[in-house]
Amino acid sequence: MDKRAIGVFDSGLGGLTCVRELRRLAPGEDLVYFGDTGRVPYGTRSRETIQRYARQDVRFLRSFDLKAIIVACNTVSANALAELRAENDVPVYGTIAPAARVAAASTQNRRVGLIGTAASVRSGAYERAISALDPTLRVYAKACPLFVPLVENGRNRLGDQVVELVAQDYLTEVKAKEVDTLIMGCTHYPLLSAVIAKTMGPGVKLVDSGAECAAAALRDLEEKGLLSGKAAGESRFYVSDSTEDFARLASTFLGESVTGQVERVVIQEY
Ligand code: DGL
Repeated sequence: MDKRAIGVFDSGLGGLTCVRELRRLAPGEDLVYFGDTGRVPYGTRSRETIQRYARQDVRFLRSFDLKAIIVACNTVSANALAELRAENDVPVYGTIAPAARVAAASTQNRRVGLIGTAASVRSGAYERAISALDPTLRVYAKACPLFVPLVENGRNRLGDQVVELVAQDYLTEVKAKEVDTLIMGCTHYPLLSAVIAKTMGPGVKLVDSGAECAAAALRDLEEKGLLSGKAAGESRFYVSDSTEDFARLASTFLGESVTGQVERVVIQEY
């Protein structure tokens, strides 16, 4: 047993899709979350910048005594996971392999859709992970850069004409490929899952990369004997921009108030 906290980070709000699942599956774990809300989005940036930001995020998280780090961001997982693993002496978990495994196991017609940020799609990380599992699977990828700013601005609900129109525009092409499984390869996208599901139509399984990453990390920590064994854990939240905006959106999403639990960090100092 290990009572130290698990560090989780994302470029913004999206990693909360992973936090929600961590809390559901392992309520006894202490969590330290960092959302780089002052520098989001990462998905439009170069690999070098993503790696630099990710290293600073991890250096901040490691100012706490952690037993593991979860990279709850596909853009970082696709562009910096190997480097972060090599540089840290605690387990570092990413989103790509867990989501790829679930998608490969789920597809019946061997056609998998992938939506993500420009940097995630450009990296080819999902195609490599899926082809390593089964080279006969076809992957149809589409970058959806406007989804993240919409989510960060709270525009994620069914019935919001702007987000429905953007989803229609991005997803028509993937839908035309007749995929039966769609990887939401960005931790922000599950916040849009109702809109994405409606646009894709019935019969398409949506894979939530944040939730799959949480489940896979917990399985590994359990195997290593590193779960806390506590009845109830605590969560602390840190952001690099307004704490109020984050607290409001995070409370809605997590279904409980986090007001008063969010602190601001000057991430450039790490
Ligand atoms: N949450 C990030 C991801 O999973 C996307 C947000 C961003 O572009 O920074 O890729």
